[in-house]
Amino acid sequence: MLRYITAGESHGQALVAILEGCPANLPLSADDIDRDLARRQEGYGRGPRMQIEKDKAEIISGLRLGKTIGSPIAILLANKSKELFDKPFTQLRPGHADLAGALKYDQKDVRNILERASARETAGRVAAGAVCRRLLQEFNINVSSRTVSIGGAASEKEWKTLIDQAREKGDSLGGIFELMITGAPVGLGSYVQWDERLDGNLARAVMAIPGVKGVEIGLGFALADQLGSKVHDEIFYDKKRGFYHKTNNAGGIEGGISNGESIVIRAVMKPISTLRTPLQSVDLGTKAPVSAHVERSDVCAIEAAGIVGEAVAAFEIARAWLEKFGGDSLEEVRDNFSAYQKRVSVL
Ligand SMILES: Cc1cc2nc3c(=O)[nH]c(=O)nc-3n(C[C@H](O)[C@H](O)[C@H](O)COP(=O)(O)O)c2cc1C
Repeated sequence: MLRYITAGESHGQALVAILEGCPANLPLSADDIDRDLARRQEGYGRGPRMQIEKDKAEIISGLRLGKTIGSPIAILLANKSKELFDKPFTQLRPGHADLAGALKYDQKDVRNILERASARETAGRVAAGAVCRRLLQEFNINVSSRTVSIGGAASEKEWKTLIDQAREKGDSLGGIFELMITGAPVGLGSYVQWDERLDGNLARAVMAIPGVKGVEIGLGFALADQLGSKVHDEIFYDKKRGFYHKTNNAGGIEGGISNGESIVIRAVMKPISTLRTPLQSVDLGTKAPVSAHVERSDVCAIEAAGIVGEAVAAFEIARAWLEKFGGDSLEEVRDNFSAYQKRVSVL
């Protein structure tokens, strides 16, 4: 079974991602991971930390002579920015885990919540996802993302202006990003049990990105206003192509199973919670009204959230892939996939 966890604090020593269940003999290098780590740090509206700290992956286990060996792959991302780690604060920040986390974990210093709840942790998800992407590449499956809108604006020129205006006012913005997975064959996921549905697993993974508040697949929420006759993708057959659809309103998944079309997911991210012009709040210790604590922060992180989305989607697709075609080596997975391809192509 493919699974991963991450560890580490935002300004602690390092972040660590451990990915287990990746087949042996997959060619892998730190560059494969660094490429996506760099993409996560880009985008208009990012904060100062992205300039001072460029993430570099160190693969500390699971790899020998440039290939995976079937054991857990541990990836270390050293933090360069550590100066805030010892700085306590108590002015709770609205829109963050601060209040609920401090009460739940019985903490007097909100730093103990911020350090792990910070979206810095998503660098670990991107590292694990990059290995999954590397596996999917072997089978010509591609995972990409694009920004759909920021602050309601759909063009890059408009959203850059909106971001500049928000930054000037000490405010922040959210938006919508889209994920596209091409090359996935028919048959990933299943309707047989709720937790095997590919749509459910992808939606959970994308919803679990900090700040994401809504996820849709295919036409998603727009389906609410449509007639069935206008939205369901009709089925065709041709000797050369086999079964196919002319439309993809389902977003590549029907009955919890990939249907051979591109998988299309959209997600909405709320505006960044930390505001340079801070919101009204309460001090955790004194209970007196205060302005929320402000720490260096992004104004908008939609593009970066899209890269995190790619990573978590790559993990879910790779997991479903290995569930269907699983093997202990890349060669075994390849054989299993080839046999399935042959069987499906004669239908
Ligand atoms: C890539 C990425 C970067 C983020 N950067 C920041 C940031 O700099 N400042 C901030 O306040 N929130 C940032 N966020 C969003 C917060 O992590 C998020 O608002 C917070 O976790 C609370 O959201 P939740 O209620 O969905 O967990 C970022 C999120 C992502 C995915």
